[in-house]
Amino acid sequence: MSFNAHIRRAAEGGEVMLRRSFDYDEGPTAEGLPDTGLVFIAYQADAEQFLAIQQRLSDADLLNDYAVPIGSAVFGLDASCRGLLRHNGTRQEASRRTQGHR
Ligand code: HEM
Repeated sequence: MSFNAHIRRAAEGGEVMLRRSFDYDEGPTAEGLPDTGLVFIAYQADAEQFLAIQQRLSDADLLNDYAVPIGSAVFGLDASCRGLLRHNGTRQEASRRTQGHR
């Protein structure tokens, strides 16, 4: 596997996040280009965990030849949402169970 493979670059820092993303395909645009993409959604205890991964992917990620970021947003969740992680087990278990973007 290439050193710049997406999953290698994403994983090598050891940060923990819950990923639940949605892909979309709106068909061709008026210009005949594909309007497809991925709404990437991740939950983590601290936005720094996301930023560290995103920075690595920005520095080097072979996926960048195929994907163009077009927007981003950060939302804070109420502390009661921590129940999500508790309910699903340990942080590592929760991470393993939600590795898929699907
Ligand atoms: C168009 C955008 C993206 C695509 C198509 C994509 C695709 C993928 C695929 C196919 C995998 C391997 C299968 C899986 O574990 O789900 C993966 C893993 C992963 N991606 Fe993405 N990804 C995208 C954006 C991002 C972004 C923006 C981040 C974080 C900033 C990210 C973080 C991760 C992480 C943490 C993994 C798991 C690595 C591991 O195996 O531990 N991805 N991605």
